[in-house]
Amino acid sequence: MGVEEGKEAVKEYIEDLRKKIHYHNYRYYVLNEPEISDAEYDRLFKELEELERKYPELITLDSPTQRVGAKPLEEFGTYEHGIPMLSLNSVTNEEEVRDYDERVRRMLGGGEIEYVVEPKIDGLAMELVYENGVFTVGSTRGDGKTGENITQNLKTIKTIPLRIFYDTDAPPLPLLEVRGEVFIPVSKFKELNAALGAKGERMFANPRNAAAGSVRQLDPRVTASRPLDFFAYGVGRAEGKEFSTHWEALDYLRRVGFKVSPLIRRFKEFKDVIRYHDEVKDKRDVLDYEIDGIVVKVNGIEQQERLGTISRSPRWAIAYKFPAREEFTSVNDIQVQVGRTGALTPVAVLAPVQIGGVIVSRATLHNEDELRKKDVRIGDTVVVERAGDVIPEVVSVIKSKRTGAEREFRMPDRCPVCGAEVLKEGPIVRCIGVSCSAQLKERIKHFASLRAMNVEGLGEKVIEQLVDRKMVSDAADLFFLTKRDLLKLERMGDKSAQNILDAMEKSKHTTFSRLVHALGIRHVGEHTASLLADNFGDVEALRNANYEDLISIPEIGPEVAKSILLFFEQGSTKELLRKLLERAGVWYEKKGVGVAEGEEEAVKEVLEGKTFVFTGRISMPREDAKSMVERLGGKVASSVSKNTDYVVAGEEAGSKLEQAERLGVKIIEEEEFKEMVTYSPS
Ligand code: IVH
Repeated sequence: MGVEEGKEAVKEYIEDLRKKIHYHNYRYYVLNEPEISDAEYDRLFKELEELERKYPELITLDSPTQRVGAKPLEEFGTYEHGIPMLSLNSVTNEEEVRDYDERVRRMLGGGEIEYVVEPKIDGLAMELVYENGVFTVGSTRGDGKTGENITQNLKTIKTIPLRIFYDTDAPPLPLLEVRGEVFIPVSKFKELNAALGAKGERMFANPRNAAAGSVRQLDPRVTASRPLDFFAYGVGRAEGKEFSTHWEALDYLRRVGFKVSPLIRRFKEFKDVIRYHDEVKDKRDVLDYEIDGIVVKVNGIEQQERLGTISRSPRWAIAYKFPAREEFTSVNDIQVQVGRTGALTPVAVLAPVQIGGVIVSRATLHNEDELRKKDVRIGDTVVVERAGDVIPEVVSVIKSKRTGAEREFRMPDRCPVCGAEVLKEGPIVRCIGVSCSAQLKERIKHFASLRAMNVEGLGEKVIEQLVDRKMVSDAADLFFLTKRDLLKLERMGDKSAQNILDAMEKSKHTTFSRLVHALGIRHVGEHTASLLADNFGDVEALRNANYEDLISIPEIGPEVAKSILLFFEQGSTKELLRKLLERAGVWYEKKGVGVAEGEEEAVKEVLEGKTFVFTGRISMPREDAKSMVERLGGKVASSVSKNTDYVVAGEEAGSKLEQAERLGVKIIEEEEFKEMVTYSPS
């Protein structure tokens, strides 16, 4: 073989490798249904990297290795959109949206109308240009005509294909402009803020601000480290392709590799549009991305053209918004709350106000730095936001409403509850009192909470009384309470007392992961607790882990590792664990991964011959879940049939769940699945 021929073969091989990686990237990020393990994916990726190092002349713009290639920019260039990016008119109530429908019908002069209904994602509008299937330019909306060229940042987003082609045999279009929304999922936003906070960096007010701040970074490496995501919702120019409906365009986008919202529907009857608005509104809090309404679009492209646009907004679409989550109110006082780790949080006491159907009378001000930055004073008129299950927060002050009578607030230099000294760590002021009753109350509330030990019926009021009356001095003391003790509390009847005792008894049998979470180690939330449980399996192993052991777990950083070590060094921790495990009778099941040799047999029989299907988002990597099942003798299939024994339904489970319901296959939640794959001593 000649040199040139050899090179041709390498080129082909590299191209083939890229195709594979693009495909698996798509399975993993867009469909959330990986076909290969992370290790296998890494191997393909490393192989490509090595080949490209050897043959740099063969590197292409759309190579999966080029997601974060570029150097930091001095400033962004501009980009002129081929077709202006429009904005939407919006309505906020049923009457207005019915008027809109009537207007549309009148203007179209009869005939059938179909509407496509989409969630209105609260992120930032983007345009992505694909030339011959390759992503070449990505830009913000800007003023609608000209946006900023942020190509190198958009390339870092894994759900934005660098090259399109999936599921279609036709050659890629010479030009395709895709429009959609960049956003940060709510759960990832919380993690990002926690990480920024831990590093003493500025946190973002909400997911939208976080997305905006991340996508406009001059250094693409920073953008790459942010959990940005993308939903496509429309097409600009598409050379060589005509769509007769918007629905068709969405379907095309989905087939060529974009993430398109699974909540999109089409309706012929307008009453169904209204019904769906209410349905989506009810889902708003459980979705992992923020939406502020629905967008109603006339489906027929020919009808859209007849309706046209007016002052930069299309007449063929309207945003039907959900009730506001922001309201004005006044700050009557600022108080300090002491958290489980001693952090002193300033809290605004508000004139009660209804936000999104809930009365809000307190809102967090986060910490002293935030309070100073927003310059919130007692007596101020403020904007308060309540988003989903997030605690209400003061967003901003309406300074024009100041009268001069407002009072500034200073953080105390001693703990307002126990009087101990406070220590400032970055923006956080912390009470260092070892027997601070406020900390104890919060620690016990956390210990007993649903996602920790789950002691049902043990509410905040009961815990506060128990601490105030010195009936408990740590979480383990809960298990030594008698009915007589409980009956001494205010508003405690015989039945409630018995219920609490029963719940306490039930909670003694737990999982190691829940126990670790319940201990309330700083920086160890539910997810990290589950990682620790996976890796160490029991208290002894975790207690004996050193810094290197901890940090060798991907996702556990130095900060978290140090915090865990510090926790286990405390005398009070040893005492607490001894009381819980040796005296109170708390016991847990070991995690599948941590199962000791010989013990595995006991579980093996349970999953022998059983077939599992996973759907939706679960907290552990799919690959891990799969290997757990397989190690215990079961099988994992990718689609649901009557031979399926269990469908494990995660968040936002879709058609597989429906299929399971139709076939009457047993559906279990992740928690139950975890229980199944853990070892229980008999
Ligand atoms: S369509 C011609 N669809 O809402 C229609 N927009 O003011 C233009 N948005 O800038 C946009 N979700 O950032 C459309 N499913 C969706 C959307 C959506 C969110 C945003 C977009 C746009 C703004 C409209």
